[in-house]
Amino acid sequence: NKGKYEHYMQKEIHEQPESLTTTMRGRLIRGGSCKAKSVLLGGLKDHLKTIRRSRRIVFIGCGTSYNAALAARPILEELSGVPVTMEIASDLSDRQGPIYREDTAVFVSQSGETADTLHALEYALENGALCVGITNTVGSAIARTTHCGIHINAGCEIGVASTKAYTSQIVVMAMMALAIGGDTMSKQARREAIIDGLFYLPNKVREVLKLDQDMKDLAKLLIAEQSLLVFGRGYNYATALEGALKVKEVSLMHSEGILAGEMKHGPLALVDESLPIVVIATRDACFSKQQSVIQQLHARKGRLIVMCSQGDAASVCLGGSCRVIEVPQVEDCLQPVVNIVPLQLLAYHLTVLRGYNVDQPRNLAKSVTTQ
Ligand code: M6R
Repeated sequence: NKGKYEHYMQKEIHEQPESLTTTMRGRLIRGGSCKAKSVLLGGLKDHLKTIRRSRRIVFIGCGTSYNAALAARPILEELSGVPVTMEIASDLSDRQGPIYREDTAVFVSQSGETADTLHALEYALENGALCVGITNTVGSAIARTTHCGIHINAGCEIGVASTKAYTSQIVVMAMMALAIGGDTMSKQARREAIIDGLFYLPNKVREVLKLDQDMKDLAKLLIAEQSLLVFGRGYNYATALEGALKVKEVSLMHSEGILAGEMKHGPLALVDESLPIVVIATRDACFSKQQSVIQQLHARKGRLIVMCSQGDAASVCLGGSCRVIEVPQVEDCLQPVVNIVPLQLLAYHLTVLRGYNVDQPRNLAKSVTTQ
């Protein structure tokens, strides 16, 4: 039931404040006067010691689920102290890449039925790794086959383009990082700040959803373009990949997410006065580097659309020549949850304006059950 919405994708984008709340329900413990703030993940608690002792944590997934893991990777590295590597499921299988008994392999999948991810799971089980599932579907193949896991609880997602599952996946993996790192006293203040950030996150997403009309206006400007680049780095490298994936899969416009640190190693050659480029430059440790990226793109007359934190328009938009998307600032590791929303809205409006099927893009299936 689409309720007041015209499409499932639109409904699922707009229900993210609620889906995020459901994802966190009963899992955040904000303590009393003397109790520390913490996270409780029932499905993981008996395995936390093993995970902390693992030689590395390997995230495995496809498409949007892979991007969600990429967004969570930095906070997991920071809080757990365990090396974290990333694998696209099909690539791991193609290479028969090394997976060891001392590894924790985390399988991320909205449907829990993706053939590539399931195949990589069987391979990791054969190799003796501890296998953790992060899925949105209770009783799915991945949920059943892994040793333990966390349900995303984002509610049923119908649009082929994954939206609310993505933001809930990031939140689940941030909570996982908090749980794994939960025994380090030196990081208690950081953990508490993230727990507070999680608590306020649904309201921040509610706020960013107010950009709907702005994103529709931007979509009108971009309707006839051939291509859209999205530059991000740090926590928001994943936002660049995921924003571009959304645009290409539903609006059928070519789009590419680019790690801003790679700009001079090739992509800079594409920059001219006509190619639209989204630069994600919200406040975090990478902000000054992104300011310099903006300067360099500006010097080459790039057609810039800059996403920045509220109040930063003047410091990112040189000479007032670019379009700005101002978003609320949250704890750095949670910023990808806020930042993806305007790009989801942009992809949605572009698709509707271009007259394509937004919930069922051509050639795609919601659950890819063949390899
Ligand atoms: O169900 P899964 O999360 O395992 O699906 C993985 C991908 O097929 C999926 O995320 C796909 O990339 C989406 N259509 C993206 O919106």
